[in-house]
Amino acid sequence: MTTAIINPTMTGKEIVDLCKKHTLYEWSAQSKVDPIPVARTKGIYFWTPEGKRFIDFNSQLMSVNIGHGDERVINAIKEQAETLAYANPFMAHEPRARLGAKLAEITPGDIDTFFFTNGGAEATENAIKLARFFTGRHKIMARYRSYHGATAGSISLTGDPRRWAAEPGIPGVVHVLDPYHGIERGWESAETSLAMIEETMQLEGPHTIAAFILETVVGTNGILIAPDGYLEGVRKLCDKYGILMIADEVMAGFGRTGEWFAVDHWKVVPDLICMAKGLTSSYLPLGAVGMRHHKVFYGGLTYNSHPMGCAAALATIRVYEEDHLIENARKMGAVMKQLGADLLARHASVGAVRSIGLFGIVELIRSRKTHQPMAPFNGTSEEMTALGRYFREQGLYTLVRWNTFFTNPPLCINEQQLREAFAIIDMGLEITDKAVAD
Ligand SMILES: Cc1ncc(COP(=O)(O)O)c(C=O)c1O
Repeated sequence: MTTAIINPTMTGKEIVDLCKKHTLYEWSAQSKVDPIPVARTKGIYFWTPEGKRFIDFNSQLMSVNIGHGDERVINAIKEQAETLAYANPFMAHEPRARLGAKLAEITPGDIDTFFFTNGGAEATENAIKLARFFTGRHKIMARYRSYHGATAGSISLTGDPRRWAAEPGIPGVVHVLDPYHGIERGWESAETSLAMIEETMQLEGPHTIAAFILETVVGTNGILIAPDGYLEGVRKLCDKYGILMIADEVMAGFGRTGEWFAVDHWKVVPDLICMAKGLTSSYLPLGAVGMRHHKVFYGGLTYNSHPMGCAAALATIRVYEEDHLIENARKMGAVMKQLGADLLARHASVGAVRSIGLFGIVELIRSRKTHQPMAPFNGTSEEMTALGRYFREQGLYTLVRWNTFFTNPPLCINEQQLREAFAIIDMGLEITDKAVAD
C-alpha cells in the first residue's frame, strides 16, 4: 500500500476541483476562485501537473525570496526532521540557539531577542502584546494603507479593506493616513504627513499610545516607499512621546528591498521588528518578533521555536549570504527600475511605476489627464481581468490587485529572466493601453 498523501496521477483539473470542493480559499467568494494547479518548482519557475511553466513573478506571496527548490534548505529540513523534529518551547535546542544569535547579528541596532511564531500575523499580534505590557498603555496606531495579518489583533491593525469583515476588532487601534493618497492625488511631503501623525498623537493623548506599527515599505497596498525623512521622523515622534515603534518587515524584510531589512535604507532602529515570509523563504512556516532584551514575557505557542522551522531559517539565511542574494536584489533592482521606466515611457495606461530592490508595482490608469485608475479602490475592471488572463496564458504569475500588478521575483533572478518577464508585461499592456481615453 502506498503511503503517499498526494496521488501524483491527478490532473490539474482534478486537483483544482477537489481543492475547491473541500478547502477554503482566502479573501474570496469560493465560487469565483480559479487557482493554478502547481506540481513542482525550481528557481524562479513553477510548473502545473501538465507541465505548463510559469515565471513566479510574485515569489508566490512575496515570500520565496531565495527561489524555489534550493537543495541546501531542503537538506537542512530533512536532517532536522531525522534528528529532532520537535521539542516543546520550554526546551533549548541548537537550531533555536543558533537562529536567535544569527538574527541578533543581522537585525538593526541593538535588537537581540526573538520570539518565534508560526507566521507574520502571530508576530504582529505578539508585538502588540509586548508593547502594551512594556508601556502600560493600550492604544496602537497603524496606517490605512497596510496589512498586518488576519488574526484578531493583526486584522484590527490592518488598514486595508480586508479589515472590514472583522470589525469591530480589538479596541484601541487608531488608524492614520499615509503620505500616499492614491494615483489621482499622489504624495504629500514627509513634513506634512508627520505633522498629521503628531496631531493625531496629541488628540488621542500620547500617554495612552503604546506603539505605532508600520510596514517600513508598504507591500500589498502599493509598494509605498515613504519620502526620505518620514521613517526618521516617525522614530523621533515615538521617542518624543515614549511610544514604541514597531516595524512590520514581514514582506519587506530579508533582502526584498536590497537590504536585510527595509528600515536599513534609512538607518532607523525600531523598538520591535516583525518578520516571517523571507525568514524561511516559506520552505516551512516561521515568523518572529525581535526586540531589545526582554525580562518577562506572557505569551506562548506550542510551535514557538519549532526546531524544523529554525533549521530551515538558518539554512535560508546561509543561502542569502553564500549566493550574495541581497547584493543581487540591489543589482537586479537597478535593472528592474530601468525596465519599469521603459514601461512608463511606452504605455499610455501606465500611471506610476515604483520599486525598491526587487519589490515593485505598476499602477494603471485610464486617463492621462485625471489619472483615473484602471480599476476602482477595492475593485476590478474588465481590462484588469483581461490583463491578468493574458499574464496567465503567457506563463507569467503575479498578483493583479485593483488597478495594480506586482513585480516581485525571487532574489536569485538574473537579467535575462527579468527581461523575459518584462517582455511579456510589455505586450500585455497593449490591452490596457486601448482603454485610455485621453
Ligand atoms: C506586512 C505583513 N504583515 C503581516 C502579514 C501576515 O503574515 P502571515 O500571512 O504569515 O500571517 C503579511 C502577509 O502578507 C504582511 O505582508
